[in-house]
Amino acid sequence: MPDFIHIAEQLAREAGALLREGYGTTLQIEFKSAIDLVTEYDRRSEALILGGLRGSFPGHAVLGEESGRTHGDEYEWLVDPLDGTTNFAHGYPMFAVSLALTHRGRLIAGVVYDPLRDELFAAEAGAGAMLNGRPLRVSTVTDLGRALLNTGFAYDVRTNPRNNLPEFTAFLMQAQAVRRGGSAALDCAYIGAGRADGYWEFGSKPWDLGAGVLVTREAGGRATTVTGDDDFLGQPSVVVSNGHIHAAMLRVIHEASPSTS
Ligand code: IPD
Ligand code: CA
Ligand code: CA
Repeated sequence: MPDFIHIAEQLAREAGALLREGYGTTLQIEFKSAIDLVTEYDRRSEALILGGLRGSFPGHAVLGEESGRTHGDEYEWLVDPLDGTTNFAHGYPMFAVSLALTHRGRLIAGVVYDPLRDELFAAEAGAGAMLNGRPLRVSTVTDLGRALLNTGFAYDVRTNPRNNLPEFTAFLMQAQAVRRGGSAALDCAYIGAGRADGYWEFGSKPWDLGAGVLVTREAGGRATTVTGDDDFLGQPSVVVSNGHIHAAMLRVIHEASPSTS
């Protein structure tokens, strides 16, 4: 495979350094909707990454959160230049840069970079997952009652009937604990790192999930839609886990909202 992962790592580190500079400063903020905001750093980080990808892989397609889709060959980069914008804007130290590469729709490389902790999660299909160069493995938790779960809520939570509240309540009652960290990319990568055991969300986008899911899969975990379909990219739901609690998570979601799962 060409040097996809090294270029992705380099770009994620450069974009992360830019975010580190902006973190804690007075920001120019615009609102895409009532609770969905965008800062100048989302845009500057995306411009940096897209410039780098264009320079290294001029023929590849790109799907960037802020600039949309640029068509190209059968390789497509999924770019979230700042995952955790709400956290970033409030000075809450949890956000990341997420870059994934697909080939004919299949995830083949992914990098999630947390610039404040200088943690780089990276995975290549078939080659395992690493955190700062050390191999990763998912947790061995098999009982949902002992599991630490992550979730998130899409920006249309106030208007979309599939708002994750029934599932959130159900997991709160059945898992050991549930966190809402505010960065889907880190939520997923943390499962690969064995720091959490499962994650689910509705309405996440390919750029939120691609890289973190590849990290988890390559670390031995599993990712599907709520109906168990492995092909989750672009679908309205995702469940990511260490594999051991996957069936239990799908069951809880089905019981919480039987008509939609
Ligand atoms: C959001 C975060 C959040 C998740 C939302 C995402 P953004 O991404 O990942 O945790 O719950 O669904 O949209 O807007 O900060 O890039
Ligand atoms: Ca995101
Ligand atoms: Ca983003």
